[in-house]
Amino acid sequence: MNSKVLVSRSVFPEVIEHLAAHFELDYNDQDAPLPPAQLATRLTGKQGALTMISDRIDATVLAGAPDLKAVCNVAVGYNNFDIEALTSAGVMATNTPGVLDDTTADIAWALLLSSARHIVAADKWVRAGQWKGWKFNDKWLGDDVHHATLGILGMGRIGQTVARRAAGFEMRVIYHNRTRLPAADERSCNAEWASKEVLLSEADFVVLMLPYSPATHHVIGKTELALMKPTAHLINVARGGIVDDSALIEALRQKRITGAGLDVFENEPALDAGYFELDNVVLTPHIGSSSRATRLAMAMLAADNLIAALSGQRPPNLINPQAIRA
Ligand code: GLV
Repeated sequence: MNSKVLVSRSVFPEVIEHLAAHFELDYNDQDAPLPPAQLATRLTGKQGALTMISDRIDATVLAGAPDLKAVCNVAVGYNNFDIEALTSAGVMATNTPGVLDDTTADIAWALLLSSARHIVAADKWVRAGQWKGWKFNDKWLGDDVHHATLGILGMGRIGQTVARRAAGFEMRVIYHNRTRLPAADERSCNAEWASKEVLLSEADFVVLMLPYSPATHHVIGKTELALMKPTAHLINVARGGIVDDSALIEALRQKRITGAGLDVFENEPALDAGYFELDNVVLTPHIGSSSRATRLAMAMLAADNLIAALSGQRPPNLINPQAIRA
């Protein structure tokens, strides 16, 4: 008998077809998260689930789903999973690393360039009919990206992809990571390791590429923002909660730093309304991996993880190998 699997929210038809060839599916075809109680109910009796970052899987949910063997996130981040609870329940958890590196690195650059050159505020101003004539020394004077210093905090796959793109802008690249990269990787990224303090105080553009966990909660707060240059820009395409949003809003309001480009927020989508009053911040709705090709590749990889997990193989992107022994 086929295993029973929940697909927690709408994905591409190709992915459903792929999964349907292996499993009996319970598909929420709405692109909205199931409310927690419904998620728990629909997981009961299931052996597997294809989940999204909006699905919290914790001990309470697991208590009602004793048959569950695998939850496969369509995301590289998995802070929606309580990994400890999953491991002790013997449930494999997987994510989708690798396939979204380029697309996410591209949006980091899009936000960086938009912040440096006031693209979004200038667009709004033109549409509002405020452009009365070309000016030489106008309010749109921005900051050069070329030859500037790029500081990357969190130098995993996506951080390294961001770094490699900096060569075209002939930038100096510094990075900070818990563990220093092997020399060959530093060379291929043309990046030098720096302490977090040096990175914050020397970078013209600080790009955050850290995963979210209790250890990275508010890694950028008032103290860290105070170390940044007043001409610097902060870019976050990683996760909300890494930045203390109220501290950032205050720093942007006071022009303690020049600008920010943000794709992720604390409590998203309910952002701190303070952001809406600022014209030195560019805001996007957590679309870092959102190209059709990449979202399809992520969902297919998650589906392959699920197929492997439920057919007795080790899924390629297993986060908690201890779950197999638990
Ligand atoms: C998206 O935020 C992801 O973690 O893949």
